[in-house]
Amino acid sequence: MGNLKSEWTPIVKEKYISKVVRRLIEKMDFEKFQKIILFGFSDNMKWIYRIMKENNKDLILCDWREKFIAYDCGGKQLLSILEIKNSSKYQVIVCLEDINEIKDSVRFIIENDLQKLNYVFDNQVPNFPFNYENPYNLIAQKAKQRAKSMISDEQLFDLIQFIDQTSSVEGDVVEFGSLHGGSGAIISEAVDCFSPGKNVYLFDTFKGIPKSKYGLDFHWINSFANNSFSEVKNAFKDMKNVNVIAGDINITYKKIKNNLSFAYIASDTYESGLLLLNYLWPKLNRGGILAVCDYGSFPNCYPLTVIVDLFFEDKKEEIFVYKPAKLGIFILKK
Ligand SMILES: C[S@@+](CC[C@H](N)C(=O)[O-])C[C@H]1O[C@@H](n2cnc3c(N)ncnc32)[C@H](O)[C@@H]1O
Repeated sequence: MGNLKSEWTPIVKEKYISKVVRRLIEKMDFEKFQKIILFGFSDNMKWIYRIMKENNKDLILCDWREKFIAYDCGGKQLLSILEIKNSSKYQVIVCLEDINEIKDSVRFIIENDLQKLNYVFDNQVPNFPFNYENPYNLIAQKAKQRAKSMISDEQLFDLIQFIDQTSSVEGDVVEFGSLHGGSGAIISEAVDCFSPGKNVYLFDTFKGIPKSKYGLDFHWINSFANNSFSEVKNAFKDMKNVNVIAGDINITYKKIKNNLSFAYIASDTYESGLLLLNYLWPKLNRGGILAVCDYGSFPNCYPLTVIVDLFFEDKKEEIFVYKPAKLGIFILKK
């Protein structure tokens, strides 16, 4: 019956062999090395072992994780890498693709001084931590389920990093200009990961940018009116430390009473920028960060950008500044 079944559904092996398996096999050097070792239990290991077995090449299989020691892989048991001779005559093919697993394995190699072995890694492992590395990718996934953001993943990744950097600084976390709650979700999930329980405040009218008293802001009036307070409030209903506050931020900002560890201005206008810089900066604790999302977003944020420059002109000694390549500014209070 078994035979019949495989006759009915012939498996064309070549179709299933992934590109990473092909790349790793190309790097195996049977001429140069006495032994070739496959490291890191995975589908890649299974495929490489199977293909090499069919070609009468005998390989050693191993892992650094306890749970995979003595594991069966296509009829052969995995050893612990600690049992392998630490020899410069051996080549180790790292069969992993998950960047977190690869980093864990490299850490094990360094900590156990297994550095005489010659390691080969796949060269096409993607490297944007926001998508692939713990805990950033977990924060990103949870936040994206909560609410959408109009800013780029690169900008959201910066937010996560600076919430992390300021996690040991005391003080609340605030965002002005939440729209649908997307960047607020990233901030809140990052706080939950790095400093759980810290108060988070998210401010917006949730019905567009109100009229400003400055002509510099006239082009913003009524922008971003496609959201709603209840939508955003609802997105955070399970997070007790997150407070969503509706209203004109040029009035509601006074609800911020405590000192701050992180302040994020994402409200675009000259009027709110001027008011918030003056109110938030004295409240920011040392080691805290103030960020302006739209610094350098031209032409609409020329006034906001210039007011940020003017505000910090006489504070150069007390700040450390990071300007991401495309947009925004992060200012640390020394
Ligand atoms: C560019 S959007 C924010 C984008 C958001 N941070 C995200 O991740 O998608 C700017 C927001 O600032 C808000 N905003 C601007 N001026 C405001 C004001 N005076 N009062 C309240 N909200 C304001 C707008 O309503 C809008 O939702």
